[in-house]
Amino acid sequence: MKIGMLTSGGDCQALNAAMRGVVKSITNAEENVDIFGFIDGYRGLIYSNYVMLTSKDFSGILTRGGTILGSSRTPFKTIQDPDENGLDKVQAMKDTYYKLRLDCLVILGGNGTHKTANLLKEEGLNVITLPKTIDNDLYGTDMTFGFQSAVNVATDVLDCIHTTADSHSRVFIVEIMGHKVGWLTLNAGMAGGADIILIPEIPYDIDKIVEAIERRDKNGSKFTIIAVAEGAISKEDAALSKKELKKVMEKKNYPSVSYEVADKIQKRSKYEVRVTVPGHTQRGGSPCPYDRVFASRLGAEAGKLILKGEYGFMVGYKNREIVKVPLKDVAGKLKSIPMDASIIQEAKMLGISFGD
Ligand code: F6P
Repeated sequence: MKIGMLTSGGDCQALNAAMRGVVKSITNAEENVDIFGFIDGYRGLIYSNYVMLTSKDFSGILTRGGTILGSSRTPFKTIQDPDENGLDKVQAMKDTYYKLRLDCLVILGGNGTHKTANLLKEEGLNVITLPKTIDNDLYGTDMTFGFQSAVNVATDVLDCIHTTADSHSRVFIVEIMGHKVGWLTLNAGMAGGADIILIPEIPYDIDKIVEAIERRDKNGSKFTIIAVAEGAISKEDAALSKKELKKVMEKKNYPSVSYEVADKIQKRSKYEVRVTVPGHTQRGGSPCPYDRVFASRLGAEAGKLILKGEYGFMVGYKNREIVKVPLKDVAGKLKSIPMDASIIQEAKMLGISFGD
């Protein structure tokens, strides 16, 4: 059996654990397995840049963050365009696949990765995917690996901010990853006791944010902690078209949304504001125990499908069961927080403001 494997897009914790799960489950059942590890995601497949791996290479990596194969962003938007030397990238990926006589490709990635994976499947390649992203925004699965580990990192940041916040009468903003969805901010925000949570799904009104801070002040709370998703957006900006918004953002010239929120709060109130941006630390470090188990299970189930010769699926998680989801049902769809999600109502009942 010949298996190609790649990790694409932004990395996250438990990529190695997931690949280990795939390889262990297959090599424990089959003797002759060749594993081709493509370097830096689809780039490795396009340019036929790979390393031959054995099951030994997957030993001792359960707890290791990052990806032993490296990763890169190869945007789906331009995947059909020739590269700078005129190479047809999709054809090149197919050529690599056929040249190496692969039985299948195991692709680990998030939203963009799944669009290309589905394209390759439609082009006739045997593909199995695994859902990775700290954003947890992949359609067709309740959970992605990397998410719980990132919640842990972001929560640790909020916990640390809490102790310093307790010493100062200030407003602290922690910017949490997630340009399109707020799963990470919402979960870390609740776990870290944030008082205000701003997510892309709920455009904020700055006056409501100031009101919430003042209310806390009046009730004797010295400080306020705000968890802000990278993609948080004001009501005014949310009403703009994409083009208009781009222009407005260029004019504003803030390093990121948190600085805009901080500036607006300082201009409208007496409060001193500090911003913390943990950034890529949220994708780094060792996977948490949940992700180690979760990614290993997904990997093993992917191995099961490969052994049975069932291709064209993402291995996902629905209603506490591991499921196989057709790639066409995943590609190009985003899993946002539904506005009627009970977690939003529960957070509000706890007194958390969403600035709405
Ligand atoms: O998709 C994962 C993610 O970490 C997002 O949360 C974040 O907005 C983005 O990637 C950052 O991308 P990059 O690593 O390319 O800067």
